Amino acid sequence: MKKRILVVEDEEKLRRVLQLQLTSAGYDVDLAGTAEEGIRIVDRADLVLTDLKLPRMDGLQFLSKVRLQNAHVPVIMMTAFGSVETAVEAMKAGATDFLLKPFGFDHLQQVVAKALEVRALRDENRQLKAELGRRYEFDNIIGRSPNMQEIFATIERVAPTRATVLLAGESGVGKDLIARAIHFHSPRRDRPLVKINCTAIPENLMESELFGYEKGAFTGANTSKPGKFEQADTGTVFLDEIGDVPAAIQVKLLRILQEREFERLGSNTTRHIDVRVVAATNRDLREALEQGAFREDLYYRLNVVPLNIPPLRERKQDIPFLANHFIHKLAPDSGSRVESITEAGMEKLVAYHWPGNVRELENVIERGLVMCTETALDAADIRLESAPRPRGNSDSHFLPDGMTLDQYEQDILKEALRRADGNKSQAARLLGLTRNALRYRLTQMGMEA
Ligand SMILES: Nc1ncnc2c1ncn2[C@@H]1O[C@H](COP(=O)(O)OP(=O)(O)O)[C@@H](O)[C@H]1O
Ligand SMILES: [Mg+2]
Repeated sequence: MKKRILVVEDEEKLRRVLQLQLTSAGYDVDLAGTAEEGIRIVDRADLVLTDLKLPRMDGLQFLSKVRLQNAHVPVIMMTAFGSVETAVEAMKAGATDFLLKPFGFDHLQQVVAKALEVRALRDENRQLKAELGRRYEFDNIIGRSPNMQEIFATIERVAPTRATVLLAGESGVGKDLIARAIHFHSPRRDRPLVKINCTAIPENLMESELFGYEKGAFTGANTSKPGKFEQADTGTVFLDEIGDVPAAIQVKLLRILQEREFERLGSNTTRHIDVRVVAATNRDLREALEQGAFREDLYYRLNVVPLNIPPLRERKQDIPFLANHFIHKLAPDSGSRVESITEAGMEKLVAYHWPGNVRELENVIERGLVMCTETALDAADIRLESAPRPRGNSDSHFLPDGMTLDQYEQDILKEALRRADGNKSQAARLLGLTRNALRYRLTQMGMEA
């Protein structure tokens, strides 16, 4: 695969020469005349070749910004004879190498090739280490199943970059947890992590919440206010329930992802920001694409690194480890003596289909701890929230014994709301209803709060 080199140099002539030389040496080349331009496209670079003296930003500042976007990329500084000391400083600050101007083509090629080689070795080393120290836990995320192992490896690989990550999976599979892990393993860990729950914000307030507003932008806007994206500048934005974003906001998100720019509501001033985006969805976005509810261009921008987190019923080998993890996490605070689970208890947990995934398992254990007076949780202490899934008996295609249709419908509505964490739009989708149709049924059943 061809390596891509980003050349940042304000002097046009030198820029062209470098482009010619590097292209002829078999590299793909991106050019930038300013540090700002360079930062914008540094995510895809395999190596950065930059002038130490750039307009408006010195080489050291530039270096630290590059590291935020692309933690491991080699950076070679080009410097004029007089500024060797700064070059030394740059090396201390993490530059890979430097070139004294003027330099010949051969020397350039050598330095570049060496930096890329060292990078490749380091990458390999990191990978080997990751394989050796097979992780069954990633921070506090538990996972023994091959699926989860793969997810941990991906987190490790993408966290250091600015790449956009799209987490897909049912409610309760651990999307929030994984989004946090990505942020805290990135070079942005000391910067803000701002979570935006796209279903929790009413549509008419969404733009001002996300992008901020200027004084007088609407009635009641007595002061100016930055939005969530501005709060997250230099950090990470976690866009939860991205599938529910209205079309008008989708356009603006696309612009943030593409151009890293936006305007506050009521303002003509374009603002630039540097955020890493992690998005999550529990609906199939491709389906939303087909129905035209989600923009295709936004989908592809978000889906740079897709992470699909399987439901718990598809990785049952994780259940015992998760159960023990929750006992140790929750027992001390609940004043419980429980330290383990009996074999019968564990069998019951493993047999269940966990419609609410890990969140439900955590709740079941928490309640079990309260019930149990012994030191081991037994099957009787484990109260499952819904009946085990009926097994393909054709008789079961009728109402359960002694139940009326209304009661049955109520149960189904409750279950849908529970699976959707109380979110009505989502519950409606699970049932194949519109939100209004669901509302209507809930009211009819006297269930609408
Ligand atoms: N693999 C895991 N290991 C440990 N705890 C987990 C794991 N997955 C989920 N949890 C816990 O389950 C609950 C639900 O997880 P969350 O990340 O909020 O799910 P989602 O965002 O997908 O709905 C949280 O309390 C979380 O800490
Ligand atoms: Mg969540």
